[in-house]
Amino acid sequence: MVIVLRDIARNYLPRKPHYWYARIKLATDPLYTGVGAVLAETCEPLLDLGCGIGLLAHALRAQGFSGRYLGVDIDEEKIASARTAAARARLIGVHFETHDLAHGFPAHRGSVALLDIVQFLPPDAQDALLEAAIASLSPGAVLVMRTGLHREGWRLRFTRGVDRFARITRWMNVGPQRYPRREDLEQRFARHGLNATFAPLSGRLPFENWLICARREIASSNPSDPMTALKPD
Ligand SMILES: C[S@@+](CC[C@H](N)C(=O)[O-])C[C@H]1O[C@@H](n2cnc3c(N)ncnc32)[C@H](O)[C@@H]1O
Repeated sequence: MVIVLRDIARNYLPRKPHYWYARIKLATDPLYTGVGAVLAETCEPLLDLGCGIGLLAHALRAQGFSGRYLGVDIDEEKIASARTAAARARLIGVHFETHDLAHGFPAHRGSVALLDIVQFLPPDAQDALLEAAIASLSPGAVLVMRTGLHREGWRLRFTRGVDRFARITRWMNVGPQRYPRREDLEQRFARHGLNATFAPLSGRLPFENWLICARREIASSNPSDPMTALKPD
């Protein structure tokens, strides 16, 4: 996997900052293999919201994910870089679009990835985004999120500091707004009949990071779930 990851980074040349970002992120961040493991059992189309330069698409294809992939991000330069790198790597069924999530949710049925983005949205927008993401899950699909959770401690203080630094360096166009509470997420997923798991995903890094996976089971029969109510008998 290490050699493959280095090959992935080369697709971002000659954009040196993106090349080095890809190399360092892929080598140090357990996110991409973690999401690959979550999606190993499904080939439902994946919508990656706030996809950045599209590293996830490369990492997923390297791990055998065969579903269609659409990555959207507000940042035109990152989307341009993502498109060039995916074309160079000859990724099939991978597309990128510039899209501001403040202006609505892209049409989609399948799985959804929300990786390091929810905390950058204002609270109302977070709620709307999560509801729209859950509504778009098809049977067998997964909502996979990475975020810090609101638990006071040094890890959250460090994570908030790094998220603020990303804003100062203009890697991000906004700073962190609110880190979700685990209880709120658990209640939301339960209301929609989703099976959710929360796993720490800090690896050896000092972040307050969690990999959260909410799955819509194929034979869900929760009568309070609006998706179940719509299903024919
Ligand atoms: C920390 S980066 C995460 C990138 C990617 N998900 C990853 O983990 O490799 C957050 C991304 O969210 C994007 N973003 C922030 N606000 C957005 C919005 N309103 N609509 C779409 N994308 C947004 C940023 O441009 C940035 O690329």
